[in-house]
Amino acid sequence: MSSAARYRRCVSDPFPSGPFVTRLERYPSVPSTQPIVRGWLEDGAPEVLVAVADEQTDGRGRLGRTWTAPIGAALLVSVGFRPVGLAASHAWRLGATAALAMLDAAEDVAGLRDGTLGLKWPNDIVADGPDGLLRKVAGVLGEATLDDDRVDTAVIGLGVNADWPLELFPADLAPSMTSLRELSGGRPIDRDTLLDAWLDRLEPRYEALRGGHFDAGGWSSRQRTTGHQVEVDGPGGRTVAQALGVDPESGALLVAGPDGAPRPIDAGDVTRCRVVALPGLARRV
Ligand code: BTN
Repeated sequence: MSSAARYRRCVSDPFPSGPFVTRLERYPSVPSTQPIVRGWLEDGAPEVLVAVADEQTDGRGRLGRTWTAPIGAALLVSVGFRPVGLAASHAWRLGATAALAMLDAAEDVAGLRDGTLGLKWPNDIVADGPDGLLRKVAGVLGEATLDDDRVDTAVIGLGVNADWPLELFPADLAPSMTSLRELSGGRPIDRDTLLDAWLDRLEPRYEALRGGHFDAGGWSSRQRTTGHQVEVDGPGGRTVAQALGVDPESGALLVAGPDGAPRPIDAGDVTRCRVVALPGLARRV
């Protein structure tokens, strides 16, 4: 179903028995799609709420960073939920669920081989770069309000480098980023098609999450860093260690401690991970 049809249907068939999306608005240019959806939730709107923009002038990233993209180059979308029954300790699973749905949608829309895209903890969507380092394709930002030990509302924002040509990559980010357009050999990527493909995959995943079923296997198996050495910047400083996997209960990254036993890292960012050893450097990476 196209997103326009999805919206028309929701007008005549409202929540709770209607379609997945109750409100979808598109904007040519906004500061950020996150506060738009936050405002709708604060006004009492029923889930699921979607705001999409061609451009953001004050886009937000994780850990207080900014998020920028040329007009029309990225899918910039925020989605609002009221995930009844989701434990506060599992709020992170909303972002993970959104990322898993986008992995599948992006591989499909860009015509990529299964497994071309993976996750870099916590929820970046990445691809292997020609230099053997991971390159970021998309980022996920989760912002939740809590009611005691439950999630009351959540806004999950995704910025997906969709139709972004190599020549427009900013010089400082070019070594660490790529786009669906580049991964597909220069094929144009339609952002509306990607949005629709994502929402189609998000719906069953979100309904499962509301029913208490998180795709722990999918989230673990798509982690591209597992088995590789990672650099992680966190509140406690930088850690360089072997990534052993992730913990689908706590959402932590698991790295090997000095004794080789799994050690959880609960917050931070994997800043570097080489997934392909360079010839002659196999023992040092
Ligand atoms: C990250 O730091 O990797 C997360 C980036 C999230 C960016 C998206 S773009 C749509 C939504 N609106 C924002 O201001 N941020 C998120």
